[in-house]
Amino acid sequence: MTNTSNHLGSGSNGEIFNALTVLLADMFTLYVKMKNFHWHVSGPHFRDYHLLLDEQAAQIFGTTDTIAERVRKLGGTTIRSIGHISRLQRITDNDIDKVAPADMLAELLHDNRLIVGEMRHVHALCDEQDSAILRTRGIDGPIAMLNTKADALSARAS
Ligand SMILES: [Fe+2]
Repeated sequence: MTNTSNHLGSGSNGEIFNALTVLLADMFTLYVKMKNFHWHVSGPHFRDYHLLLDEQAAQIFGTTDTIAERVRKLGGTTIRSIGHISRLQRITDNDIDKVAPADMLAELLHDNRLIVGEMRHVHALCDEQDSAILRTRGIDGPIAMLNTKADALSARAS
C-alpha cells in the first residue's frame, strides 16, 4: 500500500497533522516552563520539587520526538522553530520573577490537563477518520504518561 505523502494540510491526515503540531508547540512550551520552574523553585521542598520538575520535563521532551517523527513518516510537516512554537502555543509562558512553589504546581497541573485534552482530541480525530497515526506504537503512551504526571502534580499540590 502506498501512502501519497504530499497533500499537506488537506484530507483526513492534514487535520490530524495540524492538531499534532499544536500539541507539539504546547509540549515544547510546557518543557521550557518545567525547566524554568526547575531552575527557579525555592523553599523547604526545593529538592523534591527540583527533581520532580526535571524528571517530568525530560519525559515531556522525550515524547516530542516520537510525535514529530510519526507526523513526518506519514507525510506531514511539523514544528520548525521557536517562532513557530510561539505562534501556535496555547499554554501560556510564565516570565514572572518569583512564583510560589504551590502556584508553580497548580499552573503545571492546569497545563498538563490542557495537553491531555489536546491528545484526546487527536485521538478522537484519528478514530473519526480511521487514521493509522496512533496505531503501531503511536502516541498512546504519552497520554498515559501525562495522566500519571497530572496525578503526581495533583497529589503534591493538595
Ligand atoms: Fe537541572
